[in-house]
Amino acid sequence: MTVLAVPAAPAQQPPWPDPEHAATVRGLLADRPPLVTWSECADLLTALAAAHRGERLVVQAGDCAERFADAEDGPVTARLDHLDALADQVRAATGAPCVAVGRIAGQYAKPRSAPTETRADGVVLPAYRGDLVNAPEPTPEVRRPDPGRMVTAYDCAAFVLAHLRARTAGRPPQERLHTAHEALVADYEQPLVRTHRTGRYASSGHLVWIGDRTRDCDGWHVHWAAGVDNPIAVKIGPSTTTSDAVRLSRLLNPDGVPGRLTFVARLGARYAGRMLPDLVAEVARRGAPVLWLCDPMHGNTVRMRGGAKTRPVEAIHDEVTGFVRALRHRRLPPGGLHLEVAPDEVTECLAVPADAPAVPDRVAQPRYTSACDPRLSPTQARDLVAHFTRLL
Ligand code: PEP
Ligand code: CO
Repeated sequence: MTVLAVPAAPAQQPPWPDPEHAATVRGLLADRPPLVTWSECADLLTALAAAHRGERLVVQAGDCAERFADAEDGPVTARLDHLDALADQVRAATGAPCVAVGRIAGQYAKPRSAPTETRADGVVLPAYRGDLVNAPEPTPEVRRPDPGRMVTAYDCAAFVLAHLRARTAGRPPQERLHTAHEALVADYEQPLVRTHRTGRYASSGHLVWIGDRTRDCDGWHVHWAAGVDNPIAVKIGPSTTTSDAVRLSRLLNPDGVPGRLTFVARLGARYAGRMLPDLVAEVARRGAPVLWLCDPMHGNTVRMRGGAKTRPVEAIHDEVTGFVRALRHRRLPPGGLHLEVAPDEVTECLAVPADAPAVPDRVAQPRYTSACDPRLSPTQARDLVAHFTRLL
């Protein structure tokens, strides 16, 4: 394990109004059983190593922000059905089993670009930081961060995992589904670290990722992830320099284990073609082994009239095209897709051309139910996966 200087306070943490309550909850979580097992994480590592060799593709997909209210039989079944359908589609197109990873069973904490949100009527509220911290309804009471919600997050994740295991119990390991979430809130993640005969692991999910806002090489999140043995992913946004990327790869994969580290490029259609060939080449030349996935969602977000976010489907397709070209150019396997998807026919991402003249209108998006970022509907997700596998 790499020894790093212990960094300053972690970025993007909830401003708990009652820090003693947070300390009590850390104790409760430390006493709970692990949510996932070491061997499940090891199985995912093996699958990701196969993706690293170009033998399998990865589809990582799910909500931007999972809701506690969706920890119920119906919504969980719909999400797992959708993930299975996308994995089946990839298998049918490639002839190899897909590595299926949900943004699920723990995707309850959100980083924010601003600590507050100004409503249309001028009222300023604390930002919604995911159900693990507060609730999205626009009232000061529910936006107040509540450490007790971390226990509910644990319980909801346990419920979703029970569903996932019941569904895949009889399947061979390469056809199981895996869980993943952004490891953001230190007070939740740290107490759930468990030791195993051969190492330490984050027991909060199979794969954990570091977001684009918290990937500072000297920050808490990278330091923490370097100390656990799960498969780790890092979001790579347009401000990532080649030296950042090389350094991250070495810090997070010092032993050079294939499958241990995934970089999820989320550069935006405009930058993917320009930036990615150099990033990929420099990491391959000077860094540790990395599997590259494409998140074509987060770099292509635009605001509609009224302020809500959307994403033009055309830009999403273009970023996938740029990603495949860049990886192919460097003779590396395009590892797969990282997507925000809904299990029902939402109208959150825009079907109009990216260069349509008018600012899109929220009124034209009647089924917009995401608590955070706009997701692809099942039809849009299927079309995008088809576009990706056609390019290959
Ligand atoms: C996300 O995946 O929802 C997210 C916040 O992504 P990023 O860190 O890439 O902005
Ligand atoms: Co998101």
